[in-house]
Amino acid sequence: MHKTILANFVSFKKMKKKLGFDYMVLLIAFSIYLSPVCVSAAKQENPQQKQQLRFGKNGEFKILQVADMHYGDGKSTPCEDVLRSQYRGCSDLNTTAFIQRMILAEKPNFIAFTGDNIYGFDATDAARSLNAAFAPAIESNIPWVAILGNHDQESTLSREGVMKHIVGLKNTLAKVNPAEAHIIDGFGNYNLEVGGVEGTVFENKSVLNLYFLDSGDYSTVPSISGYGWIKPSQQLWFQRTSRRLRRAYMNEPVAQKAPAPGLAYFHIPLPESASFDSSKFIGVKQEDISSATVNSGFFTTMVEAGDVKAVFNGHDHVNDFCGKLTGIQLCYAGGFGYHAYGKAGWSRRARVVVASLEKTENEGWGDVKSIRTWKRLDDQQLTPIDGQVLWSKSFGGNRRKRETGGT
Ligand SMILES: *[C@@H]1O[C@H](CO)[C@@H](O)[C@H](O)[C@H]1NC(C)=O
Ligand SMILES: *[C@@H]1O[C@H](CO)[C@@H](O)[C@H](O)[C@H]1NC(C)=O
Repeated sequence: MHKTILANFVSFKKMKKKLGFDYMVLLIAFSIYLSPVCVSAAKQENPQQKQQLRFGKNGEFKILQVADMHYGDGKSTPCEDVLRSQYRGCSDLNTTAFIQRMILAEKPNFIAFTGDNIYGFDATDAARSLNAAFAPAIESNIPWVAILGNHDQESTLSREGVMKHIVGLKNTLAKVNPAEAHIIDGFGNYNLEVGGVEGTVFENKSVLNLYFLDSGDYSTVPSISGYGWIKPSQQLWFQRTSRRLRRAYMNEPVAQKAPAPGLAYFHIPLPESASFDSSKFIGVKQEDISSATVNSGFFTTMVEAGDVKAVFNGHDHVNDFCGKLTGIQLCYAGGFGYHAYGKAGWSRRARVVVASLEKTENEGWGDVKSIRTWKRLDDQQLTPIDGQVLWSKSFGGNRRKRETGGT
């Protein structure tokens, strides 16, 4: 509390020039009145403030993406689109078991739930459904986040209510919205920084940036039908955040020549995900891309910013491909949940992403060298499929060499 008043006082000193004395007295009184409230609110909202993400001593950071759990009421909520022989004894609990098995098999550093976490229409109590859906992540003690899909608000909580409930759960680093953005559309827009290995020159720098955005549910513009999209206010926040992170990374100490790679997570795919033919991606496309019917320009915004190397969506459960467009990989995770539409005989699946650091001469670790991905199927062996390199620092390096080679 002391610190807050002190901090307020310092900033008031700066403001004193602009404001009259009476105004100042009023403001100080008001700030003292508010301080204890603010402090306790801040504590409540982010109990893990000190828990910073960083690369492990093995030079890797591994993310498990869980898309479209569609959780309902648990044991009483049946599976959809499984083989005839598989309906019996199949429920939301199979979704829970799949997360538990994935966590054991992959031991990720971080888990990202990319929306439609619950299927609201079939969840009697949103809070209870959310608690059950995220329970395996919470129990694993692995930091996790969630963003919203288009079905999360269909139960007893609004979109804001769902996001507020999520940020109150244990071990989550999710936020309702960034404190620095005064006006922003949606709920669940935030970024996380992943620091370099402790004890290396990158220990105080974010070498990998994670962006999470709310792609909305449905259009609220009467003349536009269909799904929601990432609005200008969100794009402005992304641009500012990306610029700040790029500057920090490319400035002292240990100034870098290129921005740290970024990964963006949001539920509804961009219209650009429809721009590949099957020879141009890894994975499968078994349904149309259900993006918004308008193009919000977010893809171009990311290309301009230059740091985002891959985007991860859910929403279309039987698409699970990654395709590269203008230097950005557009990836689906594939449907995860058993109470979600899918394809009988086509296993539920999850996507894993690993960023690996460059090994330095003196047995230390540098910046991110490559980002790889694969998926695992919910079969007996959790079969890994479609392993690929999403991004590698040397791609850019080689190209530059060739360009300057001048043959
Ligand atoms: C669902 O879980 C039950 C209980 O573990 C199991 O017997 C069944 O095979 C699972 N169903 C599917 C489709 O994985
Ligand atoms: C990182 O920050 C800590 C705490 O301020 C400092 O002690 C350490 O020297 C810094 N490391 C580097 C590599 O700059």
